[in-house]
Amino acid sequence: MADEMGNIDTAIQASQKTVVSREKEIGEDAERPKGPVGLDIGTSHIVMAQNKGKNIHTVKQLNAFFTIPYSKFTKKILLENEVTFFEKNEMFYILGYSAENFANMFNTNTRRTMEKGLLCSREDEGINVLQAIIHTLIKKPKNPGEVICFSMPGNPIDSRNSVVYHESIIKMFLASLGYNPMSINEGLATVMAELAEDNFTGIGISMGGGMCNVCLAYLSVPVITYSIEKGGDYIDQMVGVSVGEPATKIKTTKENSFKLSKAPKNRIETALHIYYDDLIHSLLHSLQDVLHSSDKIPKIAKPVPIVLAGGTVLPSGFKEYFENALKNFNLPVDISEVRVADDPLNTTAKGAMVMALSEEI
Ligand SMILES: Nc1ncnc2c1ncn2[C@@H]1O[C@H](COP(=O)(O)OP(=O)(O)OP(=O)(O)O)[C@@H](O)[C@H]1O
Ligand SMILES: [Mg+2]
Repeated sequence: MADEMGNIDTAIQASQKTVVSREKEIGEDAERPKGPVGLDIGTSHIVMAQNKGKNIHTVKQLNAFFTIPYSKFTKKILLENEVTFFEKNEMFYILGYSAENFANMFNTNTRRTMEKGLLCSREDEGINVLQAIIHTLIKKPKNPGEVICFSMPGNPIDSRNSVVYHESIIKMFLASLGYNPMSINEGLATVMAELAEDNFTGIGISMGGGMCNVCLAYLSVPVITYSIEKGGDYIDQMVGVSVGEPATKIKTTKENSFKLSKAPKNRIETALHIYYDDLIHSLLHSLQDVLHSSDKIPKIAKPVPIVLAGGTVLPSGFKEYFENALKNFNLPVDISEVRVADDPLNTTAKGAMVMALSEEI
């Protein structure tokens, strides 16, 4: 029991550390972690987190691939250029950031292993590729049986998709590498990473590429969790369709220069505003509906914070936009404030790692 409490203290301390993040370099070897690991398996990125000294360190890989036909010659060139790939069925599967370079050269899109937060059913090799991409970040742990905590979406309320299959596939793979795998809901991971000072009580929302994940937690216990299948990818697609441009071009504009704090200057920006609005309203509508129809709402004496994370919250002015929209909804719990996470692209991995630390044996 004493040890267990020690672990929890270590985990709480870790949740207050700063994240030092970087991208996986092309050609760089995967790590053999020592100590518990947090893993965010997201539609756009996979992020691995470890607790090292004064900081949390995260490494990010693109969750994407690109296939090219097999040839001996190409293989030699790929190897010489340290491109990450594997061979199957007379094809090379180029993985992660390497795939992005290829797709740009061919002026097309990378393929994805996941869609809307879950394994993509349209890709035959999706599972193998996802495993290979995870393997570019982590190899076997130094100590067998190391705890690894990976993020899982909540069940989507707007479709019949279930998370059971996805979760089992990932668990089996991580166990086969020698880890002791456990999962954490992505919304709860947001709470674990950001709400230590609020006794892990509040609403964590992770707005990613494929979906938005929501968790209302009371003293670190997930009371309500769910997801909606709309996120950054939805914005890119819908804006693209509206203005007649490819979604990838919209994504680049959105990530590089778009601000919600400024009035739109052109058609793309106008459409981005419209679909950001649409996403935030869908999310808040779902939150209002889910909370009102639940009989599990705790009677919390104090108002609770909402904390927002995930790449979709990054444009400047997002918080104010969200706060304004929130005024039009009526939630059965009082909200003290809206906060944006410290480092929205690394919040889930950090929260998963905090959970892994607390479960260490
Ligand atoms: N600077 C930015 N401004 C706006 N959007 C951004 C920015 N950077 C990334 N994004 C968007 O954030 C999304 C990716 O976020 P994130 O990495 O949190 O998702 P994920 O965890 O991979 O996906 P999910 O949780 O939905 O499975 C993409 O839609 C991307 O376009
Ligand atoms: Mg995510």
